[in-house]
Amino acid sequence: MLRSLKRGGAGRVLVVGSANIDIVLRVNHLPKPGETVGGGTLHYAFGGKGANQAVAASRFAPTSFIASIGTDENGAQMLKSWQQAGINTAGVLLTDRCSTGTALIMVDENGSNFIGVAPGANQELQEHSVHLAVSRIPLPDVILFQAEIDHNTVKYLADGMIPGDPLLVFNYAPVAPPILNDLNGLSVLVVNETEAGDLTGSRLENKTAIERAAKNLRARGPAVVVITMGDQGLVAATENQLLYQMAPHTAPVDTTGAGDVFCGTFAAALAMQHELPEALTLAQCAAALSTTRQGAQTSVGTADEVREFRRALRHGLPIVIT
Ligand code: RIB
Repeated sequence: MLRSLKRGGAGRVLVVGSANIDIVLRVNHLPKPGETVGGGTLHYAFGGKGANQAVAASRFAPTSFIASIGTDENGAQMLKSWQQAGINTAGVLLTDRCSTGTALIMVDENGSNFIGVAPGANQELQEHSVHLAVSRIPLPDVILFQAEIDHNTVKYLADGMIPGDPLLVFNYAPVAPPILNDLNGLSVLVVNETEAGDLTGSRLENKTAIERAAKNLRARGPAVVVITMGDQGLVAATENQLLYQMAPHTAPVDTTGAGDVFCGTFAAALAMQHELPEALTLAQCAAALSTTRQGAQTSVGTADEVREFRRALRHGLPIVIT
């Protein structure tokens, strides 16, 4: 593993981020603007990028979660499900000022989706509440956070305000509106190719463009930049290497939350001190497996299932290092 990603602690992960109730409508194709698509089926699931990532991380590493949810039935049910997953929820805040965040999701028959979010209680996760919540949990070795919470909180985390010199892994999602210009304090930046395009102001139409974007983003400060490309694999840029890693092949039924499963598993693998290619491979396996099941948190495989999937790849995923 890269020297700058090494930490000698107990392998603890802290996820700070969003929690939503996902209202999911499955249709055979996603509507164009103005089009009505009938014949759908509806279900409710626990989601939110932060919560999805925490559940994925908790499969492999002791994980704490800091989030803000409403004092409503959705919030109560979510909290229970995270506790059942073994997540330390001592840092979860309850607010009666707004309801638990909600996401409206449409999924088509190929597993692709559209997502819109009403953040609700997520917006109440502010710097001072994170500061207080941290005092209630064990100090982490790796902090994973995303951009679906209050912008000042994202900056606070990116500025390294949590004690103990943890690795800072930032999943810049969603990327609009722009929250963070200064990426300098980050250990790892993870984005998908759309987000990478938005961050670099370029259209990433081919591998050369993605490679250039990864290098550009890395030049802005993070020790490692990972650009995920769904079933096309990923590109990771380090100080002196570019690494392309293919994705495992699956027949997806729902890709919702697959990026979150990737991030959560990747953070846990770093906390477990895996080498970078192996951490990426394990994360890709967990994400690929999750696409074969419906929902976000409901689709996260157990550690045994992910390891079994990983074993079936034998030598790992084809890697090209340049
Ligand atoms: O990344 C998927 C997640 O995005 C969904 O679970 C939804 O809640 C939104 O936050």
